[in-house]
Amino acid sequence: MLAIIGGTGFGDFAGLQEIEPKQVETEFGSVYLEEGQLGTSPILFLPRHGNPPRFPPHKINYRANIDALIAAGADKVIAVTAVGTVDDSLRVPELVIPDQLIDYTYGRVQTYFDDEIHHIDFTFPYDETLRQQLVEAAKKCQAGNAELVFRDRGVYGCTQGPRLETAAEIRRMRIDGCDIVGMTAMPEGTLARERELPYAGISVTVNAGAGINDMAVKLDEIQAAMDEGMSWVRDILASFVNSI
Ligand code: HPA
Repeated sequence: MLAIIGGTGFGDFAGLQEIEPKQVETEFGSVYLEEGQLGTSPILFLPRHGNPPRFPPHKINYRANIDALIAAGADKVIAVTAVGTVDDSLRVPELVIPDQLIDYTYGRVQTYFDDEIHHIDFTFPYDETLRQQLVEAAKKCQAGNAELVFRDRGVYGCTQGPRLETAAEIRRMRIDGCDIVGMTAMPEGTLARERELPYAGISVTVNAGAGINDMAVKLDEIQAAMDEGMSWVRDILASFVNSI
C-alpha cells in the first residue's frame, strides 16, 4: 500500500476519504497515522509533525514513523515537504521532485543499525521508479493546469533547523549544488532505505531562501504559496494513485 508522509502545510489530507485513525506501536515509540481511501485506492497518511502538529523537524521520531508505516502495510512512500529555494531561478510556489540530497543535519538519530556494522548504498537516495511515476503524474496535472510549475529533478539540502538559514549558508548551499532547502528529508530517506522501503519526495517551494531577495524571509507570505503549491500536490497524488 502507498504511504504519504505529510509535512508543514500538508498536516491533513483534504480529499482522503473514509479515514480511520490509528495509533501504531513500534519499538521506538507510538505513531499516529491514518488509513483512508484516495479515489478507489486505500492509502496510509502520516503527518510527520504529529496530530496536532507539535514535533519540530529535529524532534520527529523518524525511526518510529518508518517502522509504523511498514507495520501498517506500506510498501512505498511519498514524502511531501515544504522548502525554501536555493536555486534563484526557482519560482514560489514551484514543485520539485528531487533526485539527490545533501545532509547538513547533526545530532539526529540516523540509523536502525546502532549495534552492528551495516552500510547501505545511498548513491541515489530517491527511488527512481517511484520518482518517474510522480513525474508522469505531475505532467498530466500540468496539462490540465497551466499555473502548475514543476521540476523533474533537484538537489534537496536538509538543514537542522528549526531556525531558517543565514544568507551565507544559502550561498554556500548553492555552491554545493543544492536547489532547495528543507529540514525533514533526513534521516527519513535513509531510514526508509535501511528498511528497503522505496521512498520518493515532492517538495513545494514556499519562500525564497535567505538572502535571495536581499531581504528577510517573509514568513507571512509563506502561507499563500503553501496553499497553492499543496493543492497541486494533492492533484498529483490523486493522479499518481489512479495510475498505479
Ligand atoms: N529553509 C529551510 N526549511 C524550509 C524553508 C527554508 O527557507 N522554507 C520551508 N522549509
